[in-house]
Amino acid sequence: MAEPKRVAVLISGRGSNMRALVAQAKAYEVVLVASNKPDAAGLQWAREHGLQTWGHDSKGIGREDYDRILSAALEEHRVGTIALAGFMRILSPWFVQRWSGRIVNIHPSLLPKHRGLDTHARAIAAGDEVGGCSVHIVTEELDAGEVLGQAEVPIELGDTAAILERRVLAAEHRLYPAVLNEFVLR
Ligand code: GRF
Repeated sequence: MAEPKRVAVLISGRGSNMRALVAQAKAYEVVLVASNKPDAAGLQWAREHGLQTWGHDSKGIGREDYDRILSAALEEHRVGTIALAGFMRILSPWFVQRWSGRIVNIHPSLLPKHRGLDTHARAIAAGDEVGGCSVHIVTEELDAGEVLGQAEVPIELGDTAAILERRVLAAEHRLYPAVLNEFVLR
């Protein structure tokens, strides 16, 4: 039986949010780190730290076909909550329905502002004085599900996208574990 407190973290790259989720787990346990990029740096880190990992290249596989393979791996580990952390793939409607209400994501903007990519450059270009990040439930519409928590950071005059990204990322590392520790209990 799937248990809400058994969390799988899905990554595609460096996995700094995944590391924060592992380090600050209180109410949940990270039972699997999964990636669509078998050579993702975060996967290597997870392996070295004794976590269960799953790496399966999504290249050349149909979206839903891949998601069914991924879903089977999650079921095998009795996962009850899926935390996307820099998972650079759009999930199929089939997958989102299969895990309805059990998938969360961290997005580097104050949703509903700046959905999609290049959020920091767009926040600066828009003249926003405040930026930040949001943890939300994943639904079929991109970056549009219920917001579970947000953290704000100031946008300073002269900030570049890279500078703002660093500031927001530090906030992500505090926000995501805090929200997930609550979410698995609700
Ligand atoms: C973060 O900025 C997150 O908000 C976005 O992708 C990035 C992932 O970074 N969804 P990391 O792999 O967790 O370091």
